[in-house]
Amino acid sequence: MTASILDGKQFAAQIRASVADHVVLLKDAHGVTPGLAVVLVGEDPASQVYVRAKGKQTIEVGMASFEHRLHAATSEADLLAMIDRLNADPEVHGILVQLPLPPHLDSDLVINRIDPAKDVDGFHISNVGLLATGQKAMVPCTPLGCLMMLRNHHGNLSGLHAVVVGRSNIVGKPMAQLLLGDSCTVTIAHSRTRDLAGLCRSADILVAAVGRPEMVTGDWIKPGATVIDVGINRIAVEGKTTLVGDVHFESAARVAGAITPVPGGVGPMTIACLLANTLSATCRANGLPEPEGLTV
Ligand code: GUN
Repeated sequence: MTASILDGKQFAAQIRASVADHVVLLKDAHGVTPGLAVVLVGEDPASQVYVRAKGKQTIEVGMASFEHRLHAATSEADLLAMIDRLNADPEVHGILVQLPLPPHLDSDLVINRIDPAKDVDGFHISNVGLLATGQKAMVPCTPLGCLMMLRNHHGNLSGLHAVVVGRSNIVGKPMAQLLLGDSCTVTIAHSRTRDLAGLCRSADILVAAVGRPEMVTGDWIKPGATVIDVGINRIAVEGKTTLVGDVHFESAARVAGAITPVPGGVGPMTIACLLANTLSATCRANGLPEPEGLTV
């Protein structure tokens, strides 16, 4: 069997086009321009790449982008004061503080200072609680992107066994909540799980979000299963840096029914979902109905 490729690049472009259409409507009919503020503390190279990409795509869909780059030694008080200002700014509908923060800053404290209505990352404890209790929440962008791809491929996910490998607050836990919400039977696995390969072989849907290059190989996959690879790992191959996922693509694609590539799978969906969340936050802030198909 050769798996069909779930093209996140193309799907993300569709989502951005739909977001851009809604932005035009918001501007023309209501005089509202959605605004996204991104805060970057320090000079982490990977974070700088992500923040640049977020700013570029925000502008491309017609939204206002507010980028705040702070020195690595910024005090917690100064960062919290900046978040307070963004919370109070009517032109800012979404706030994202890029993680990881430098070690002297308490990420939980900082994230929980964001107005939950502007928390487009879905990391604020009240959004986490809303998602966990099946209520309307701002949903973290990467798992939201994965869910959109799964729904697009399968239609109905009800009754399927989903195994999520990884238990992070950013991907693993919210991914499991979203799959439960769609009536999957969900198992969360991690590095200490016994017989991880055997467990993965029981999955109809396998989500790999562990940050270990090419850990999941073809013999871990049930024939015909859908494999979602969240990993983005830079490894050296013959002296050249190459991007690989948590899944060994070549062997997995021979067994799976469908698989996301790296790059071009989950990655592009994350920013598309961030823009969709910013649009939803803007609609809610203005008492307008949220666009269909862009939220859960
Ligand atoms: N760092 C890595 N992924 C993310 C993300 O989704 N949001 C934020 N704010 N920081 C990140």
